[in-house]
Amino acid sequence: MRIVALTGAGISAESGLATFRASEGLWERHRIEDVATPEAFARDPALVHRFYNARRDKAAAARPNAAHLALARLAESHDLTLVTQNVDDLHERAGSPGVIHMHGRLAGALCAACGHRWPAPARMQPQDPCPHCAAPATRPDIVWFGEMPYRLDRIWAALEACDLFAAIGTSGNVHPAAGFARHAARHGAECVELNLEASRNADDFDRRILGPASRTVPDWVAALTAR
Ligand code: APR
Repeated sequence: MRIVALTGAGISAESGLATFRASEGLWERHRIEDVATPEAFARDPALVHRFYNARRDKAAAARPNAAHLALARLAESHDLTLVTQNVDDLHERAGSPGVIHMHGRLAGALCAACGHRWPAPARMQPQDPCPHCAAPATRPDIVWFGEMPYRLDRIWAALEACDLFAAIGTSGNVHPAAGFARHAARHGAECVELNLEASRNADDFDRRILGPASRTVPDWVAALTAR
């Protein structure tokens, strides 16, 4: 059975990382548009770097939870394509291979001038020179609002080929990820969502499993592997 799993902030919530829409559009006390858009970076790069440096510290101190670990186990017995909207590395640290980070990674640095990528230093600053072209244009390798998510061709193809699509811990507010269930269903996949509450695109799913990911995901994986 071919499975595509899409994860969102909810899967890392029990590892202590804040979700985005938990508190009236504020994200760790910042408005999203002040820290997660290209315009915000052009206006105040130091603020944006401080914000992502702090998130990198938090993510480094967090530990994968039972849901991350269960998805790593699922890949051992099934053909799993794991797509995440999360920028933390908890899936990798749980042992998942080949994770697709469609919204980028805290662990990456990107040169806004030439597109070169390299591992993020612990403290990223706007004047840091690119190791390739030397431009002082270092930014986090994060896909901001208004930018194109990564590896969409590969993701659409996996959705078209899968038998089962699962959305885990995502509110279904942000496109294109919010359209993945509909796309997979149109190509014949069964769609299930695992979340604390019904997501915004709940109608696109055949099945809903409500509860905290650290409980629902291991149970769901156990049922699949027992089939
Ligand atoms: N277990 C399962 N689900 C949970 C848990 C939990 N312990 N805690 C919260 N959730 C659910 C919430 O109910 C919500 O539906 O996770 C979802 C998190 O939603 P968002 O905060 O909107 O996060 P996400 O869907 O990943 O956001 C998508 O938006 O801000 C941008 O680029 C950013 O990748 C992000 C994208």
